[in-house]
Amino acid sequence: MSATSDQLQRFLEIASEAALAGGAVLQAYWGKLTEIGEKGRPGDLVTAADQASEAEVLAVIRRHFPDHAILAEESGQFGEQSAEFLWAIDPLDGTTNYAHQYPFFAVSVGLLINGIPAVGVVFDPFHQDLFRAAKGLGATRNRQPIQVSQTANLSQSLLVTGFAYDRHETIDNNYAEFCHLTHKTQGVRRGGAAAIDLAYVACGRLDGFWERGLSPWDLAAGVVLIEEAGGRVTAYDTSPFQIHSGRILATNGHLHEALSQELLSVQPLPQFGVRSEE
Ligand code: IPD
Ligand code: CA
Ligand code: CA
Ligand code: CA
Repeated sequence: MSATSDQLQRFLEIASEAALAGGAVLQAYWGKLTEIGEKGRPGDLVTAADQASEAEVLAVIRRHFPDHAILAEESGQFGEQSAEFLWAIDPLDGTTNYAHQYPFFAVSVGLLINGIPAVGVVFDPFHQDLFRAAKGLGATRNRQPIQVSQTANLSQSLLVTGFAYDRHETIDNNYAEFCHLTHKTQGVRRGGAAAIDLAYVACGRLDGFWERGLSPWDLAAGVVLIEEAGGRVTAYDTSPFQIHSGRILATNGHLHEALSQELLSVQPLPQFGVRSEE
């Protein structure tokens, strides 16, 4: 890591300022959307709130760090992906929830330093939950330290997962894994906002999370939260996590090997492999 703890602390403060600014926009638009757009794939929504939140987040980051690279969901990439400092920004994680006024959504602001998630802020404005973490500085929720759960058996665990927007076109749609783990645990939630799913594992409300088809802006902040809260983040097979793979297994650490083995043992449900003409 090429940043000092003072630098990391500063990045964390600016990430928080940006996430809070985006969150204020989401609160202002809540329940007031007049139009909901689709990005091309069925169910892949975008709204004025996504765009206005992103504008606020980017304005804060650019004001403080004009030389840093940015990867933001709605406006794309500025600068090199291989830049020393790359901000990964999801201005509204949980757009489907938000559009339906289901109050489970967040702003996610992460910073990759030389490709490694190093700073993360996830802000849920509806519940006023501010999750923050930076490498070596610990993780907090509303300024109080957080830790992952102690749950050590899958049979006693509560997990969370999600389904990518391309689920209708692929057999790798996570339906079989969802059924299998629902049977083996106390439950598997589908929160609909990956950044909050990760934050909830970090603070022990949930014991583990897996998903495929995610983007760096969904993952960057939450990965730092979990690692700093004492959890573990890898690929499904426990090999090192690669943020551009889109595939993540994140747990309290105690369940990690067992959950990995279950995920690797599952066969797809072929009848759900292609989109049907309903
Ligand atoms: C989505 C949410 C959802 C996950 C999807 C993501 P968005 O992000 O995080 O939980 O299952 O794969 O794309 O589009 O609401 O920002
Ligand atoms: Ca989206
Ligand atoms: Ca997202
Ligand atoms: Ca989003």
